[in-house]
Amino acid sequence: MIILLTGAAGFIGFHAARRLLSEGHKVIGVDSLNDYYDVSLKQARLSELKTYKAFEFHQVDISDHEALDAAVKGKGITQILHLAAQAGVRYSLDNPRAYVQANVMGHLNILEFARHSGTVEHLTYASSSSVYGDREDGPFVETDKVRSPASLYAATKIGGEMLAESYQRLYGISQTGLRFFTVYGPWGRPDMAYYIFTNKIMKGEAITLFAPDEMRRDFTYVDDIVDVLPKILASPPKSGHEIYNLGNSKPNTLMQLVEAVEGACGKKAEKIILGKQKGDVSNTFANVSAAERDFGFSPKTDLSEGIARFVGWYNGESLS
Ligand SMILES: NC(=O)c1ccc[n+]([C@@H]2O[C@H](COP(=O)([O-])OP(=O)(O)OC[C@H]3O[C@@H](n4cnc5c(N)ncnc54)[C@H](O)[C@@H]3O)[C@@H](O)[C@H]2O)c1
Repeated sequence: MIILLTGAAGFIGFHAARRLLSEGHKVIGVDSLNDYYDVSLKQARLSELKTYKAFEFHQVDISDHEALDAAVKGKGITQILHLAAQAGVRYSLDNPRAYVQANVMGHLNILEFARHSGTVEHLTYASSSSVYGDREDGPFVETDKVRSPASLYAATKIGGEMLAESYQRLYGISQTGLRFFTVYGPWGRPDMAYYIFTNKIMKGEAITLFAPDEMRRDFTYVDDIVDVLPKILASPPKSGHEIYNLGNSKPNTLMQLVEAVEGACGKKAEKIILGKQKGDVSNTFANVSAAERDFGFSPKTDLSEGIARFVGWYNGESLS
C-alpha cells in the first residue's frame, strides 16, 4: 500500500506509521507540527520514523488545500489514514476556531484530495468516543444516536463523520471511521491525564483530579489499536462507509488510573479533588463486537500493564 498518513508526528500517527513501515508499506506522512503540545516530542517521533527508507515527510497544514495538494499529489496514494486533528476537549473552550479549521476544513481537504486523486481506494479517518456525548450507560454501540456533543471537539468529530458520509454518497469514496476511546501508551500526549499525573508524581507535585470516582474512561492501549490498522486500511467496506468503535471495552475510574500511575512510579500522589469540568463526559465504554467480527480486534492490555509500559518509556527505558 502507498499510504498518505496525516498527523504522522502525532501520538497515534507515529505508532501507526511504524507498524505500516515495518510491514513493508510506503508511508507519506504530513503534519503541521503545531504547538498544541511540546513540538520537540513530535520532532523526536519523526526522527524515529525517518530511519525507515519508505517514509517520506512533508510539513503541511491540511487546512491549506493548495499546500496539501502540492506536497502529495501524483504520488500514487492508494490508502489514506487521516489522523491529523486538533485534539483535546478542554482546549476547545478557549480555542474554538482551531477545531473547525483542522477537523472540519482539514477533513474536507482530505476528502477533496481523495475525490480528485484517481488512485485512492480507501480513506480511513479518526473519529472519537466523544461523539457519544455525556452518558452514564454503556457499552456504546456504533448505531446509537450521536446528536448531543458535550464539547466543540465532539461536534467537529460528528461533523467529520457527516462529511465522510456525504462524500461516499456523492462520489463513491470508500471510507472507514474509527471512534477511538482514550488511547494511551509510550510516546503519548503530554496533555492527557496519565502523562500529566506521571510528570507531577515524578516531580513530587500535587495532582488535581476532577470528579475522580465518578469519571470512567475506556482506556485503550495504543498497540491494541495499531495491531488492527493494517487490516482495516486494506479492507474498503462493502457498504461504502462503515464506522467502528476501537476501545478496550473495560472502563476504569480516574482514581484507578491514578493508582496505576502511582504503582508504576512507585510513589503516592498528593491529590487535590475538584468537581467535574465543563465539556468533560462522565463515562466512555465501547462495544467492540463489530471490530472484533470484521477485523479480529481483541484488546489485550489492561490498564496497569499499559501504564507500566508508558512509565517505563517516560523513564527512558528502551522499550517502544
Ligand atoms: N489519543 C486519543 O485518546 C484519541 C481519542 C479519540 C480520538 N482521537 C483522534 O485520533 C487522532 C490522532 O490523535 P492523537 O492522540 O495522535 O493526537 P496528536 O495531537 O498527538 O496528533 C495529531 C497530529 O495532527 C497534527 N495536526 C493538527 N492539526 C493539523 C493540521 N491542520 N494539519 C496537519 N497536521 C495537523 C498535530 O500536529 C499532531 O501531530 C485525532 O484525530 C484525534 O482526534 C484520539
